[in-house]
Amino acid sequence: MARIEACIFDAYGTLFDVGAAARIAAGEAGAEGWAASWPQIAADWRRKQLEYSWLRAVAGHHCDFWQVTQDGLDWALAAAGLDDAGLRERLLSLYWELAAFPEVPAMLQTLGARGMRLGILSNGSPGMLDGAVRSAGLQGVFECLLSVESVGVFKPHARVYDLVGEALGLAPEAVLFVSSNGWDACAGAAYGFTTVWVNRDGAPMDRLFGTPDHMLRDLSALPALLDGA
Ligand code: LAC
Repeated sequence: MARIEACIFDAYGTLFDVGAAARIAAGEAGAEGWAASWPQIAADWRRKQLEYSWLRAVAGHHCDFWQVTQDGLDWALAAAGLDDAGLRERLLSLYWELAAFPEVPAMLQTLGARGMRLGILSNGSPGMLDGAVRSAGLQGVFECLLSVESVGVFKPHARVYDLVGEALGLAPEAVLFVSSNGWDACAGAAYGFTTVWVNRDGAPMDRLFGTPDHMLRDLSALPALLDGA
């Protein structure tokens, strides 16, 4: 592996558990009417959120990620036949209280103790990223929280990946880009980052430009991977 000087993480699905909002709300009082459908709602919500981000990037109709997050949820609730303003508000508020995946804090602490530079590169708006870092108890861990809002187009546009070199002054291959989104890991690899795809669901490899250098099932093995183990 090239000498790695920084680890840059995708946010949603990689560090923060995006499925948690629907899962938590489904366990709350009053959720009986839709609790059985939460996995479908969560999957539709995420799929539409991403589809809308790509379509807006291709068409040149940018809005921030909070807008596509709300639009994706509205589609998912309509597809499930739910018209419930209270449920909508609850799910959206939970999005601001996402937890990190269990292995994330210790992994970041290990890398930070070794002097590795750490950052986030995400579609999320600056406000969403601040909220997620705070709710996951990760304040002070990252050197930079890079948001697509500063370039006005979503991933996987190369202008987004440019933000890393601009912020850190590093060549792409000295950056380990880590994403659980297969398409993001492929595009990051094509851009020139050294890449890790965190394949939490055991999904097949995306058939896209670029191939990730490494695949992990979760982030616990990242320090060992960097050791060359
Ligand atoms: C992000 C989305 C793609 O954080 O998960 O950029």
